[in-house]
Amino acid sequence: MKTELLNVNHLLKAAEIIRGGDLLGIPTETVYGLGADGLNSIAVGAIFQAKGRPQDNPLILHVWSADWLARYCEDIPESAYQLAEQFWPGPLTMVLKCRRRTPEELEELKTGPICSYTHFGPRVIPDVVTAGLDTVGMRCPAHSLCRHVIQMAQTPIAAPSGNTSGRPSPTTAQHMLEDMGGKIPAILDGGPCTVGVESTIIDLTCMPPRLLRPGGVTLEQLQAVLGKVAVDPAVTRQMAKGEQPRAPGMKYRHYAPKAPVVVVRGDPERGADYIRDHMSHTRWDGVICFEEFFPMLAQGKGPVLSLGPVSNKGEQARRLFDALRSMDETDVKRIWAQCPDDGGIGLAVANRLNKAAGFHIIEV
Ligand code: TXA
Ligand code: MG
Repeated sequence: MKTELLNVNHLLKAAEIIRGGDLLGIPTETVYGLGADGLNSIAVGAIFQAKGRPQDNPLILHVWSADWLARYCEDIPESAYQLAEQFWPGPLTMVLKCRRRTPEELEELKTGPICSYTHFGPRVIPDVVTAGLDTVGMRCPAHSLCRHVIQMAQTPIAAPSGNTSGRPSPTTAQHMLEDMGGKIPAILDGGPCTVGVESTIIDLTCMPPRLLRPGGVTLEQLQAVLGKVAVDPAVTRQMAKGEQPRAPGMKYRHYAPKAPVVVVRGDPERGADYIRDHMSHTRWDGVICFEEFFPMLAQGKGPVLSLGPVSNKGEQARRLFDALRSMDETDVKRIWAQCPDDGGIGLAVANRLNKAAGFHIIEV
């Protein structure tokens, strides 16, 4: 199959792909997603196939607005609407209780997979989306092309990040083509993602609400609306064998480039010195560092990439996955990476870097 690159002029075609039960590479402000009609179990099944994603890892649904929540969720706390008011459309996913199905809806699910979607069609989330959980992740993305497609298709779009499972998430249409070229009919090119790391996931089915994955909306921003927020241990440390994180996807080694990554945290200047003193200065050692230390570290033979200035964590988030992917195009055997502190979106950057490194972290 040849994968077609669509653009802003092909929105109708993009929406038709979704409505027709096919897969679409779709831009969001966080990362590109691999989208399908979230009410069509066959289309959703194809997402798992194309990504090589484990079946026990649920997908999130992308909706037009908070008005769509009650169609698919129940026991929705007031806090969900407060968060939506503040941060939607935007990089926030809320885990909510799935709406119980009526006897008629259960019958409908039994009599066959839902393929021919109509405007007044099913309002039921198939089990394949939630991996059988009684909760579902709901997100209202900000990217205008993505929003147009949701609006035109009039269905929630199920979309995991558009990478092959285990690879860094795609932040450009080109990245998506690398992973999904030949496997899906089309990718809608919406330019480079403006956030660059995936959405924040907050579980609102427990008290206090729990941060399952840090992302574009920061912990501090959530605390300002919710008060106390618990932070899932999977955010900051490796899960022990047999331990189950609340977001099933957090247990997999993720965001991983081919070469092992060593994360260096702490004072940025000391970190840069540490890397200079410990790297091999051959072509086998790559470095991802803050812009300030690029001249000092770029003197060896290996590839050196800048993550942006120490003080600009937003830029670091935007560049991170591209940097990890670029390292895969080299033959480095080890990657040294400088890491910001946990403040603001630094928590998300650090989380993705630590996961890429399998939590191999050096504190300086
Ligand atoms: O920014 C994003 O969220 C991107 C873009 C495309 O929207 N999507 C994304 O999806 O990152 P994915 O599937 O790569 O990551 C979603 C995470 C997974 O770790 C999954 O286990 C978790 O959300 N998740 C999904 N449903 C859940 C649920 N009901 N309870 C807990 N975690 C859930
Ligand atoms: Mg992902």
